Amino acid sequence: MSDLSITQLVESQRRREVDLWGRTINPQFARVLRTIGFDRSWARAKGQYLWDADGNRFLDMLGGFGMFNVGRNNPRVRAALEEALALDLPGSVQLGATALPGLLAEELLRRLPPRLERIQFTSSGTEAIEAAIKLGRAAVRRERVVACDHGFHGLTLGSLSANANAEFTRRFGPLLPGFSHVPFGDLEALEEELRREDVALFLVEPVQGKGVNVAPPGYLEGAQELCRRYGTLFCVDEVQTGFGRTGRMFAFEHWGLEPDLVPVAKSLSGGYVPVGGLVMSRAVHEAVYDSMENAVAHGSTFAPNELAMVAGLATLHELDEQGLVERSARLGERLLELTRPLVDEHEVVREVRGLGLMWAIEFGEPARRARTYRFVDRMQPGLFAQLIVGPLFSEHRVVSQVAGHRMAVVKGLPPLCVTEQDLEEFAEALDAVIRKAQRLPRSLAAFAMTAAGIR
Ligand SMILES: Cc1ncc(COP(=O)(O)O)c(C=O)c1O
Repeated sequence: MSDLSITQLVESQRRREVDLWGRTINPQFARVLRTIGFDRSWARAKGQYLWDADGNRFLDMLGGFGMFNVGRNNPRVRAALEEALALDLPGSVQLGATALPGLLAEELLRRLPPRLERIQFTSSGTEAIEAAIKLGRAAVRRERVVACDHGFHGLTLGSLSANANAEFTRRFGPLLPGFSHVPFGDLEALEEELRREDVALFLVEPVQGKGVNVAPPGYLEGAQELCRRYGTLFCVDEVQTGFGRTGRMFAFEHWGLEPDLVPVAKSLSGGYVPVGGLVMSRAVHEAVYDSMENAVAHGSTFAPNELAMVAGLATLHELDEQGLVERSARLGERLLELTRPLVDEHEVVREVRGLGLMWAIEFGEPARRARTYRFVDRMQPGLFAQLIVGPLFSEHRVVSQVAGHRMAVVKGLPPLCVTEQDLEEFAEALDAVIRKAQRLPRSLAAFAMTAAGIR
């Protein structure tokens, strides 16, 4: 029998990857990729770029949904992983303790407010949210969870119950009992819920990923104060906003917050290895892990994973060494500077917003020449955004995404190593694409219908 060659295996499927997925993983997803023209054969990646099998370079403004803050195939994270693999480390002993998880925990905690003293590692963002719900409930002996309208916290059942949007929850009920939702930014509505003094935790994203909604001034500080007043744990979901994404190591730093619970994941391991964690106050931890009998009250077989820990250590080091957090703040400002003029230039552009390199552009029906916009929007609300994402990809080789279901918002989450020149080129491409989409020839309208699966 010949040796296993990953190179040969990958080569054997070149230009057939989508078929393979269609046969073995998800035919509907393969259909979507073909329909929207994203069915490329991807050959390699580096930093903020992806190359297809024909050698075309694409700018990655999507960043793997935010897991590539330190850039794709970061050489220093890879070197750390290779070094660790060569050490033949014991890996998880399960009934034993090795150094790497403790070392990463120490590095993480060093970057967080003193109130946060412990971490429960997981293998994904949604598991970190599940841990917050479970441990939070047990710590304060209350059942209810309050989250925000349009929030997104993951797709397993507890996280799903925290998501308010029907497009995620429909068909998957019954959801967990005890969940309520309040409008993001509305302190009165939050107090209405919290004053009953039966809410275990309030779960909030500092910048909502779906739509890129930045918390309004005073909201998060007010929410923290209400949580303290009514004995509710304040849980700030940093799964997407963490590790420099918004121009600070953690987004809550913008408002000087001191949460009780902070779920993290995505970019912590540089995009190489699944990872997540729930950072929590000592009070929460000690309330749950209160005896030897309860020493393993929560966990999972693969967490903490040694390779994830190595990648995490290297990623934190890389963020510091390359000054990526400051870079995110600076280039985020530059991206706003480059794209804000689009609001005046194109009637169809409602708003450009963002924090650090978490950015979005929102479209709306223009006052004049609204027929085409209305025509597309009637087919499916928000569909206009697909008219931007499609040509950005096919004509300008930029990978981006619509910011959420039925919303006319295009979102950018580039790796933090993106350059000013990349952003200038992106802004130019965006300008050209918006100009064209507004005029919307029938062929483009037809594309929109196809993309929406409407014809
Ligand atoms: C804010 C937020 N929380 C939680 C999650 C879930 O993370 P994961 O996809 O790793 O389960 C996501 C994923 O996009 C997210 O953006």
